[in-house]
Amino acid sequence: MAEVVVVENELAAGALIAASIRDLIAQKPDAVLGLATGSTPLSVYRALAASLVSDPLDVSRVRGFALDEYVGLPAGHPESYRAVITREVVEPLGLTAENIHVPNGDLASIETAGDDYERAIVEAGGVDVQILGIGRTGHLGFNEPGSSFASTTRIKTLTEKTREDNARFFDSPDDVPMHCITQGLGTILRAKHLVLLAFGDAKADAIAAAVEGAVTASQPGSAIQFHPQVTVVVDEAAASKLTNLAYYKHAWAHKPAWQGL
Ligand code: GLP
Repeated sequence: MAEVVVVENELAAGALIAASIRDLIAQKPDAVLGLATGSTPLSVYRALAASLVSDPLDVSRVRGFALDEYVGLPAGHPESYRAVITREVVEPLGLTAENIHVPNGDLASIETAGDDYERAIVEAGGVDVQILGIGRTGHLGFNEPGSSFASTTRIKTLTEKTREDNARFFDSPDDVPMHCITQGLGTILRAKHLVLLAFGDAKADAIAAAVEGAVTASQPGSAIQFHPQVTVVVDEAAASKLTNLAYYKHAWAHKPAWQGL
């Protein structure tokens, strides 16, 4: 079962997960981080960046793999996930740019980009901790409903709901690409530890479906139920539709300290 941790707000979530990532890097200086984009993980990246200023740690060997990328955006587009990861993660944390990978959304090489990315993840020894947000359609990465639980990195067509949600980052809704390249659910499930974050009412249904709903490709988030080590960090609003909420709080309050996250 996923461990569900209910926090007061995004700042608390950021502090909790940043501390756990610091511990990982201290033990394994070339740790492999799975990086999500979107608004949700920003509190983690910001807390980690702040802690690296107040208490420096060598992160020069840390490696990273982003979950996904739009297909066909011009190189250097500010809303490409390559640009977002550079701006929100690589620069503030002082990571080594060459160590950070993002799926290649160039149309010219799209037919082989998925397999190339899978190979790079395997060659790195796999992802140690995968940070995840969740979309309103229940998507992880850009694995929209219907994605196979065994899927690997490949091109996908975005749902119109996801394009609407992401229109806020573009000048016009029509500018949101139709296609993306995303790690598959099978790729994500191979990471050693999954950390799924969600905040706000708009994510309550997707979180309830992922944590407690039927395991079904119609709810890609439910793939987490197959994984042996999942931490779901939510605020009260995102947790509000969980049936077993009282139990999750009880378990967290009585968790043996030696277990860590
Ligand atoms: C985006 C990303 C996902 C992200 C999700 C939620 O489209 N591809 O990786 O988890 O949608 O975004 P947000 O965190 O902004 O709500």
